[in-house]
Amino acid sequence: MVQPPSAPVHEPQALRGDYSQAAADYTVEQQWQNYSEDDHAIWALLYARQIELIQRYAAPEFLQGVRALGAASTRIPRFDDANRVLADTTGWRIVAVPGLIPEQTFFDHLAHRRFPVTVWIRRRDELDYLIEPDVFHDFFGHVPLLTIPAFARFMQAYGEAGPKALTIPGALAMLSRLYWYMVEFGLMSTPHGLRVYGAGILSSKGETVYSVESPQPHRWRFELLRVMRTEYRIDAFQQSYFVIDSFEDLFAACYNTDFAPIYRRYAAEPAIAPDLSVTGDVAVPVTGSMKM
Ligand SMILES: [Fe+2]
Repeated sequence: MVQPPSAPVHEPQALRGDYSQAAADYTVEQQWQNYSEDDHAIWALLYARQIELIQRYAAPEFLQGVRALGAASTRIPRFDDANRVLADTTGWRIVAVPGLIPEQTFFDHLAHRRFPVTVWIRRRDELDYLIEPDVFHDFFGHVPLLTIPAFARFMQAYGEAGPKALTIPGALAMLSRLYWYMVEFGLMSTPHGLRVYGAGILSSKGETVYSVESPQPHRWRFELLRVMRTEYRIDAFQQSYFVIDSFEDLFAACYNTDFAPIYRRYAAEPAIAPDLSVTGDVAVPVTGSMKM
């Protein structure tokens, strides 16, 4: 038995998952047979309302990943099925976990091409908002892009970057912002306009539309240092999104940069508020985003 991690939320709360059966690396068995009919029905409801939206709003690579996984629309996926697809595409696999896990363990899983997916699904009164990630967010939002080699390489590099960030005060917050903005809330420029690839957006009905259509938020061209210095909100739609041209560019920008001098220079400085614009920001227009 392992100790559950403390919840990284502003209001501390007990984590929902059952950590009593977890191994030292926080993995558990999915125990698919234990999902209730209502669990599957909640998956089906969430899936049905997102699958249509993402045809319009998701990046082509994400849609390609969804097709490759071929997950059933009416049943919570069996992780073993997804792992056969992942093995053939990128060599990644998903591992079942009870919920949030400590950063160090999370980094280690990613560095070894294992993505932790929470086993439980949200309740019906939480369809639109959830504090902890559940199987719908983790699987529907994250797993499709793990079939895409360029994105999969970025995720592995992110995991490999973790240990250094854990040794420099303030560095973890900066590295976490890279994950927040570029893995959870990333947008991509495509020939057809802005598209979404971030898991936090694509597992949320409201933010999928808002992130591309709303005139309210900033949409800045991706710049590594800017992202690592920008605070984020966990309790509302984002006030700033960052836009990449391709996963290759994202990977190259991060992989070719030594983060240690960045941590040392900026970790002790105040972060940039999420609604601000700063010198050097390049706004990405939404115009024409919905041309098909
Ligand atoms: Fe996530």
